[in-house]
Amino acid sequence: MSTYNFIKVQEDEGILIVTIDRPKALNALNKGVFDELERCFTTDIRTSQHHGVVITGSGEKAFVAGADIKEFLDLDRKTARELSRRGQKVFAHIEQCPIPVVAAINGFALGGGCELAMACHMRIAGSKAKFGQPEVNLGIIPGYGGTHRLAQLVGSSKALELLLTGDMIDAQEAFRLGLVNLLCDQGEEVITAIALLKKIAQKAPLAIAEIIKLSSREGQNLTPYEAEAAAFGRL
Ligand code: COA
Repeated sequence: MSTYNFIKVQEDEGILIVTIDRPKALNALNKGVFDELERCFTTDIRTSQHHGVVITGSGEKAFVAGADIKEFLDLDRKTARELSRRGQKVFAHIEQCPIPVVAAINGFALGGGCELAMACHMRIAGSKAKFGQPEVNLGIIPGYGGTHRLAQLVGSSKALELLLTGDMIDAQEAFRLGLVNLLCDQGEEVITAIALLKKIAQKAPLAIAEIIKLSSREGQNLTPYEAEAAAFGRL
């Protein structure tokens, strides 16, 4: 396993637990976090050895409070566009991971934090979790896939409301909207995510990988129905 400075990676019975580890900055996503998440998802996750991945945040207050705003200050049009593309690419590695990835949301999931949670295949929220896309308050927009993934999860009308108001919602509301799969007590997020992944690990691994691939629409050259039939044939 690689050595990391901004994330922690632990293994528990074939499940990798990836913790964004910048609690003093409420786990804000800086360049270092993106580099290390990319390395983790492209090299450390071995689909032959691991059943699933949990992503969570360090400390009790935040899952991830957003992209690191301090890194936005010197951006110009070109470098900001590159930063957005880079974030989208790293989150695509997570979405296209062939084993299930569950976000264990233990506090604020704002901006890039909400986008990170949405790039995971499923989401578990503790009772103190809070969600939102507050970028509009800063005169910007989500840049890591959030404008699309939020609409896919909660519908375009509600997504527009959340994106245009920048309002924060609590765990109950996120569950009601379908943004979150399961609710749990504060502090039980990781254990609940592991239980879900262990249940899935009892199923056929090739079928799981095909379902994930179809849901992320990876390799979009076929229609969804053609892709489904091809995967059905393979299995
Ligand atoms: N980027 C960089 N640093 C951040 C951050 C972010 N997105 N969010 C929080 N931090 C840092 C703060 O600067 C502060 O650091 P400091 O102690 O060195 O000043 C520390 O985390 C604690 O944050 P603080 O604002 O003091 O905590 P709070 O409990 O008063 O408020 C939030 C919590 C989440 C409501 C508030 O931090 C916030 O609104 N963060 C920005 C959310 C956001 O806009 N995200 C989208 C970014 S595009």
